[in-house]
Amino acid sequence: MRYFFVHWKHDIPEEPSHLWYEVADDNFQNRTIEFYADGSVGFAIRGPAIDGSEDIEVGGTGNSTEGFPDLAEINSDSQFEALEVAAVDFERRWSEALASRFRMTHVFTIAIDGPAGAGKGTLARRLADHYRLNLLDTGLTYRAVAYALLQHALPLDNVSAAETAARQVDLAKLDRAVLSAHAAGEAASKVAVYPTVRRILVEKQRDFAKTPPGAVLDGRDIGTVVCPDADIKLYVTASAEVRARRRLAEIESIGGTANFTEILADIMRRDERDMGRADSPLKPAADAHLLDTSEMAIEAAFLAAMAIIDDVLAKRNKA
Ligand code: C5P
Repeated sequence: MRYFFVHWKHDIPEEPSHLWYEVADDNFQNRTIEFYADGSVGFAIRGPAIDGSEDIEVGGTGNSTEGFPDLAEINSDSQFEALEVAAVDFERRWSEALASRFRMTHVFTIAIDGPAGAGKGTLARRLADHYRLNLLDTGLTYRAVAYALLQHALPLDNVSAAETAARQVDLAKLDRAVLSAHAAGEAASKVAVYPTVRRILVEKQRDFAKTPPGAVLDGRDIGTVVCPDADIKLYVTASAEVRARRRLAEIESIGGTANFTEILADIMRRDERDMGRADSPLKPAADAHLLDTSEMAIEAAFLAAMAIIDDVLAKRNKA
C-alpha cells in the first residue's frame, strides 16, 4: 500500500483543494479523502461488489480505476503539488476527517438488529472500526445475566435473581470468551423475555450510546426500543439454513463436530423465542435498511452498509 497527498491549487469552491489517496496497487485507489475550502470533507472507498465480480465504489468522491499517475506526471502540471506520505499520516487524516464529519452532526448512533448468526456482530465491529465509534454487543449483556444465574445454579425463571444480576452487569467488563458459550446464548434468550430485566439492561445500553462520539450497538431491539432515534438503522438477516451452515463451519473450523439438523432446529427455536416474545420482540424498525446476507460476503455487507451511512452523512452535511 502507498499513500499520496496532492495539493490542488485553484479557486474553484466546489472542488477539493487537498486530496489524500491510499493506493492499493498501481491500478486503483483504495481510500480517498478530499478536503474542501469550506471545511467539508468527502470520502471514497473501493471494494468487491456483492457478487464478488468487480470493484464498486462507495462515497462521494471521484475514485479512479484508471491507474494512479506517478508523482512526476502529477507535478509536471503547475496546478498540482504531490508527494508520497507515510501510512501513519494518511491514517491520521482519515481519522480526523471522519471525526469532523461526525462533529457536524452530534453523538452518532448506528443500530444493528437481526437474528443470531446473520453476521451483525462482524458488521458492527467493522463499522465501529471504520467510523471510529464505540461498540456494544448488547447480546453479551443478556448473556452475562444468564451466565450469573447458571454459575449460581439458579433457575432461569428466577426473575428477582435475574434483576439483581442485570443491575450488576458492568459493560466495561463483559468477557466475550466466557459469554460466547452456546449454553449462555440459549439461556440468555430465556432471561431476555422478562421486561424488568430488559429495562435495567436497556438503561445501561442507552447510557453507553450517549457517550461521544457515539456508538454502534447490535442486538434485537436497538432500532425499535434502545435507540429509536438512531441516525442509521440496519436490519441484518439471512435464511435460517445459511445461518446454520455458517455456525456449523465455525464449529468445524475450530476442530469441533456438530449436526446440521440440530443446529438448524436450535436456530429456529431461538428465532421463535426472540421474535415471539411480548416485550421488545425482534423485528425491523419501520425505518431500518434491510441487509440480507444470505448470499453476501461480509466485506460486501460492510460496503453496502457504508454506502447507506455515507449517503446519510453526505445529505446531512449538505443540509
Ligand atoms: O446476540 P446474542 O446471540 O449474543 O444474544 C443472545 C440472546 O440475548 C438473544 O437470543 C436474545 O434473546 C437476547 N437479546 C435480546 N436483546 C438484545 C440482544 C440480545 O433480547 N438487544
